[in-house]
Amino acid sequence: MRKNKEPQLTAIQFQKAVLTWFKKNGRKNLPWQLAITPYRVWVSEIMLQQTQVTTVIPYFERFMNEFPTIEKLASADADHVMHLWTGLGYYSRARNLHKTAKIITTDLQGQFPNTLEALSALPGIGRSTAAAIISIAFNKRATILDGNVKRVLSRYIGIDQWPGNKAIEQQLWKVAEFYTPQKQCREYTQVMMDLGATLCTRTKPACHECPLQASCVAFASGEPEKFPGKKATKALPIKKGFMLVLYKSDGTILLEQRPPVGLWGGLWCLPEYSAEFENINEWCKKQYGLEIGKLNAGIGFRHTFSHFHYDISPLHALVKKDVLRISEQKTFLWYDLDNPAKIGLAKPIQSILSEIKMNAA
Ligand code: ADE
Ligand code: SF4
Repeated sequence: MRKNKEPQLTAIQFQKAVLTWFKKNGRKNLPWQLAITPYRVWVSEIMLQQTQVTTVIPYFERFMNEFPTIEKLASADADHVMHLWTGLGYYSRARNLHKTAKIITTDLQGQFPNTLEALSALPGIGRSTAAAIISIAFNKRATILDGNVKRVLSRYIGIDQWPGNKAIEQQLWKVAEFYTPQKQCREYTQVMMDLGATLCTRTKPACHECPLQASCVAFASGEPEKFPGKKATKALPIKKGFMLVLYKSDGTILLEQRPPVGLWGGLWCLPEYSAEFENINEWCKKQYGLEIGKLNAGIGFRHTFSHFHYDISPLHALVKKDVLRISEQKTFLWYDLDNPAKIGLAKPIQSILSEIKMNAA
């Protein structure tokens, strides 16, 4: 291990170093940093929880256009909210956002909570997200510790264990608290996120530009990427399945809404056929009252969830007879690619459908 040139910084020195860097290099014109309101900050923080800034920006703009106020969001149709989330993933975020909007408008008379305790009591808002809202929207002191900040602090103080470990996480919260300033709370939260997202990246961190370099333990080791330590990896199990693209002669495609809880809860999907059923034609008749023509295989692909890989093979078939008239049931619809319904689609479904649309064009 190389030795540090400088000892660890005091809290005041640390804050000064990062805030000076922020003045010159921080991001200050992201859509949610302009016209700051608690509502806009909250929506952006939820979108940014598991998604990168560049991906979030157009989703955020569309969301604000459709639901400019929390009241508009609260009174929106659930399908409309899910529709605006299509492609962002982690859909429980959208369901919780909708739930929380209703709680704030009805139970809290539209008053956005401004304390850590009240915010973290709401669906979808954890300790770090609550702190981000408090500091960014209200410019009050609150300590964040999201994935980015965990990486920066772990490297700075040289934690080589996995931060998901409870004891390590508690240690990181203490360190994060220690460095949080009393003033410039909004800027400090933003700079800690920016450092993690733009300099102290998971691979190839740009240490030569970093304001913390002189006293950073991970940098001094010569192998900053080795910090923090990783979780012992388990190979994810693989599930295989078929997705049926059942289309009528008018080109519309059968979609089925999933049950409200569980995988892709409430989203619209293609019918899923698992290889345990022996005959697809029989299964379609029994399940949907549909008689289908010859099956054509589409191009298979893998969708990875946090806990398993899903290898999906699309199968296309023309519907010859629609006996049960499923179009009259609420959890089914015939999806028109040229005039798409405003509904939430799971990401792999969206990919399959847009590929069909491209091939048809
Ligand atoms: N990640 C989470 N919150 C963020 C924010 N406000 N700005 C940039 N990245 C973020
Ligand atoms: Fe991260 Fe490198 Fe900065 Fe250390 S010096 S905090 S490893 S970017």
